[in-house]
Amino acid sequence: MRLQTQLTLAFTTLLVITMTIVSITIHSLLLNVLIQNEKDQLQEKGKILSQFLFSEVVPNNFSHWLSEEELYLFVYNRSVDRVALHSRSLDLELIYDWVERYDLTEQEQPLWFDGDKQYVVSIISIYPELLDQELVLITPLDDIQEIQQIFFNRLMIIFLIGILVIIILTHYLTHHLVTPLTQLKYQLKKIEKRQFNDVKRVKASGEIKEVEKSVVDMATELQRYMKSQQQFFQNASHELKTPLMTIQGYAEGIKDGIFQDEESDRGLEVIVAEIGRLKKIINEMILLAKLDSNENVYHEENIYMSQLVQSAVDRTIPIATEQQIALNHRILNDAVIHVDQEKMLQAVLNILINAIRHAKSQVYIEVSKQNDHLLLIIDDDGEGIDSALMPQLFERFIRGKDGETGLGLAISRAIVERSHGTIRAEHSPMGGARFVITL
Ligand SMILES: Nc1ncnc2c1ncn2[C@@H]1O[C@H](COP(=O)(O)OP(=O)(O)OP(=O)(O)O)[C@@H](O)[C@H]1O
Ligand SMILES: [Mg+2]
Repeated sequence: MRLQTQLTLAFTTLLVITMTIVSITIHSLLLNVLIQNEKDQLQEKGKILSQFLFSEVVPNNFSHWLSEEELYLFVYNRSVDRVALHSRSLDLELIYDWVERYDLTEQEQPLWFDGDKQYVVSIISIYPELLDQELVLITPLDDIQEIQQIFFNRLMIIFLIGILVIIILTHYLTHHLVTPLTQLKYQLKKIEKRQFNDVKRVKASGEIKEVEKSVVDMATELQRYMKSQQQFFQNASHELKTPLMTIQGYAEGIKDGIFQDEESDRGLEVIVAEIGRLKKIINEMILLAKLDSNENVYHEENIYMSQLVQSAVDRTIPIATEQQIALNHRILNDAVIHVDQEKMLQAVLNILINAIRHAKSQVYIEVSKQNDHLLLIIDDDGEGIDSALMPQLFERFIRGKDGETGLGLAISRAIVERSHGTIRAEHSPMGGARFVITL
């Protein structure tokens, strides 16, 4: 069933239940009020009538008036349990029934039942003039019920009109609510079919607006991810093809005797070097794929940041010395970090080796603390990162003019993020590049 129909149905059901309860309450309350009102009126009439009951002057057409009013009026003597006086025109049977069956001891009797008919009874003492004599007024309930029915019917008409108006309003409101959802469904269908450029914004408000925003964000992220995957495959195949072609060229040359002696030896050297490069690329790609997946390749342990930096420095000192780069480090704040030691070292080494490669004369490493976070900063005094590279610096196979594979920083980022940290690149106060790892 459509959401709009469901909502309208739910509202209507709720409304009908509420209206029914209200109607039942009003129906019973109304009868009580009318009976009470009738009793009050009987009391009033009784008081007036008792004034000229025993006077000889009976108004003209009195009996006619009584029958028109459907009013039974008589004087009752309680001590002898008898009717003392009654109008001639009355239905005597009813009066005798009353004398016989009416329970005078019970004070509160809203209605008196005679057979299947109901009556409102009012008893007025004519005391002190006539001891034990009471004026009894009885009127049938039919009139009251008739009034109640008329009143109730009108109420029902008002209720029905109300329900109709509310159903129309609910329909309009739910339509307003459901339309953005329907439109959102179409946008999701487009995402499913990967038609990212056709995805349109949907006008909505409240929580639906938030969902709509999430859907758009998801589409953008998915599109970006698919693009990067596509680029990754293109770059990867290109990276693998170049060394393979070189290897093929030399191998065929040697086999066909085109390269001989020294040339053949050089060719073999190139083949070995290219195979080494291929192996490195493939290993790095496998590592990235593993870091991407949820595979259990990440084994965390506790290690001091200073230890990690020392290991990285120990491993890079030979390269730095060879390139005449001064490698300094300073630990301002030390702390234990919970990471995969081997992988984190790899992440730091990738950045450090880049820094040594690009530095003019020095590379500086610093560990410090900033609001509960441990910062590892690596600065160099080189030419800095090419601003065109900056936005995609950490993506796979992105490299500058003097770069190598372009996988180093992508691996560093994957490892740091897997360790719940962040990595960023900026300009160094030393003139070159600065990389900041926050853990
Ligand atoms: N300290 C730095 N100074 C200037 N440019 C840098 C620095 N570090 C990285 N870059 C630039 O960023 C690019 C990407 O670096 P990345 O480490 O990802 O790849 P790479 O060094 O080219 O290859 P490899 O995969 O072997 O590390 C580099 O090619 C280089 O142009
Ligand atoms: Mg590198």
